[in-house]
Amino acid sequence: MSNDSSATTVLPSSQNQTQMSWNQNQTQKVIENRSIIYKSDVMGQMMKMIDRVAPSQANILVLGESGTGKELIARAVHEKSNRRTKPFVAINCGALRETLLESELFGHEKGSFTGAYNKKIGLAEVANGGTLFLDEIGELPLAIQAKLLRFIQEGEIFRVGGKEPIKVDIRLICATNRELDQEVVRGNFREDLFYRINTIVVAAPPLRRRKEDIPVLIQYFLSQGHSYLNRGKTIDEEALKLLVKYEWPGNIRELQNVCERLQILSEGHMIMTNDLPDFIRNPEVKEEGLEFDPSMPLYELEKRYIIKALAHYGGNKTQAAQGLGITIKTLYNKLHEYGEFEKYAVHTKPAKD
Ligand SMILES: Nc1ncnc2c1ncn2[C@@H]1O[C@H](COP(=O)(O)OP(=O)(O)OP(=O)(O)O)[C@@H](O)[C@H]1O
Ligand SMILES: [Mg+2]
Repeated sequence: MSNDSSATTVLPSSQNQTQMSWNQNQTQKVIENRSIIYKSDVMGQMMKMIDRVAPSQANILVLGESGTGKELIARAVHEKSNRRTKPFVAINCGALRETLLESELFGHEKGSFTGAYNKKIGLAEVANGGTLFLDEIGELPLAIQAKLLRFIQEGEIFRVGGKEPIKVDIRLICATNRELDQEVVRGNFREDLFYRINTIVVAAPPLRRRKEDIPVLIQYFLSQGHSYLNRGKTIDEEALKLLVKYEWPGNIRELQNVCERLQILSEGHMIMTNDLPDFIRNPEVKEEGLEFDPSMPLYELEKRYIIKALAHYGGNKTQAAQGLGITIKTLYNKLHEYGEFEKYAVHTKPAKD
């Protein structure tokens, strides 16, 4: 059900709407439809902006809340650029620890650290000629920020443990749901790097500011789906009103997850108000406060709460971390602690073929 992004994705070349990607260890093939669906003027303006900036070489910073379509926008820029026949490579800067992130990004030489049995080509090199998408750029550790800045200035990278600079030609698209300028003020993000990556800023509006898009998105998501059997359900007018009224804190990803659930769980061909989840039918009703339970240690409570948050956001770590008010790194660390890392942190998008 989740449509979360894996730590890394490599698209070998343009295939219009249908593209293939692989997860980090290249074990899982995913075929996806990547249309940007909208009706609102605000999205129309944003699409015009994408058309204008895509052919340029300018670095782009995509801003927007979780689930607003930042990665989709990055892919659209790539598809509309003259780099479309070259790779689109995505990496989630928040999903990997510092040392792993550096070698993932820039590669490493054989023997450069314990466990580096072979030479590894980094994603910046894989993306040569194409586009490198750095998701959650706000999570980039300061040491790697310095290396990225150097790369932007010189057009060269060094593999970890490497002595020779390697020339690479990539267009950089970064995304964040944080207020990066605030991170600069707090000293968490380099100001010089900030100005290098934000030549053009594209802002993805939250879904609650473009409610006209909700009906077309619902129609679109209901026409999609993993199983032919569930596709093409219609929606009752009252039910649609409630869906439009809801504020969608998880934006389009949340709407997509709800539509997938409705496709599977609603019985008839038409989705009725009764089929909608409680939090949409009665958004103001909150759960009652917790009672103290002597058999429930704090550790266990925290674990359950975190797992619940993940379930609520359809397995999306970025949203769950945001909802919990913790960084994605803390979330990953907790999942490691609980021994649940593999289950939740490894990308598990089912193939549709
Ligand atoms: N306008 C749209 N039309 C169709 N699908 C969309 C649209 N916007 C987003 N989606 C879908 O919603 C999901 C979330 O989009 P995406 O991953 O691009 O968001 P994001 O902003 O990168 O989220 P996060 O901050 O959580 O990484 C994806 O499955 C994407 O295909
Ligand atoms: Mg994203």
